[in-house]
Amino acid sequence: MWFPEYRPRRLRRMENLRRLVRETRLSPDLFIYPLFVRSGRGLRQAVPSMPGVFQWSRDTLVQEVKEVQGLGIPAVILFGLPEKKDETGSEAYASHGVVQEAVRTIKDACPDLVVITDVCLCEYTSHGHCGVLHGQEVDNDPTLGVLARIAVSHAQAGADMVAPSDMMDGRVGAIRESLDEEGFHHTAIMAYSAKYCSAFYGPFREAADSAPQFGDRRSYQMDPPNAREALREIQLDIEEGADIVMVKPALAYLDIIRRVKEEFDWPVAAYNVSGEYAMIKAAAANGWLDERRAMLEVLTAIHRAGADQIITYFAKDAARLLAS
Ligand code: PBG
Repeated sequence: MWFPEYRPRRLRRMENLRRLVRETRLSPDLFIYPLFVRSGRGLRQAVPSMPGVFQWSRDTLVQEVKEVQGLGIPAVILFGLPEKKDETGSEAYASHGVVQEAVRTIKDACPDLVVITDVCLCEYTSHGHCGVLHGQEVDNDPTLGVLARIAVSHAQAGADMVAPSDMMDGRVGAIRESLDEEGFHHTAIMAYSAKYCSAFYGPFREAADSAPQFGDRRSYQMDPPNAREALREIQLDIEEGADIVMVKPALAYLDIIRRVKEEFDWPVAAYNVSGEYAMIKAAAANGWLDERRAMLEVLTAIHRAGADQIITYFAKDAARLLAS
């Protein structure tokens, strides 16, 4: 009769042993919580495809960010729903636009909370694309100046970090240059560097009212089968001045997170996107999954793959569980 010499089960016998040898530990320190802000008063409008996620007006936002801070979450990322959209997305850089005002409100209420702003045009343009149009095409270079202007307006309102999510070529460099020219040397850039053209953004487009009115985003967001290309995108963004690079979505791209982590000595964020959240919520609502376990397993996997920061709609729920 043969016996195994080494028995891995020895270290799995009891919870405290498992805790002792655990290789990946989740903490609220990792989390960035997304918030949708809109104009109006007294609003806390549910997003049907994302149970637990709401659109906030400035007044109700204060309570929410205090709760986020109280849970030990260090950062939020803001998305805005403007009052009106136009062809060029001009409300995106209005000094009293919805995001700019929300930044001021949050910084007044919670000065220590890190406020990150999403820099993009799709929520603000009538056509729903992430840049300026030339015919039916998104025109790269004229978009760069607009993105830089948005970023500066966010920095002027007090944003600590700006996060371009448009996938135009050269936007990180353009934003860095404009921020520096305007004296915002300290404003950091978290670049959505490897952002794929994904089916998992569906619920977000409902939350942010940002679905393209014609066509799709394939000419600017990355093609899902590509990995080497992601490394080139990351390299370019680091060269152009990104302080944090991001891979998005997270779950179908854990291999990309891992490769980026191994190839670059740079902070890597991952975006656990709306569709990844909605899948778990929907399955749990049907009784098909244990929501808490699935949530923690997914967040742990993203961290294990190499993500240093995780943008996630689960941040509050996970922080509560980790504290208990
Ligand atoms: C804006 C933007 C999107 C997301 C973040 N910023 C949508 C898109 O590119 O269509 C998606 C986030 C999510 O799905 O949670 N460009």
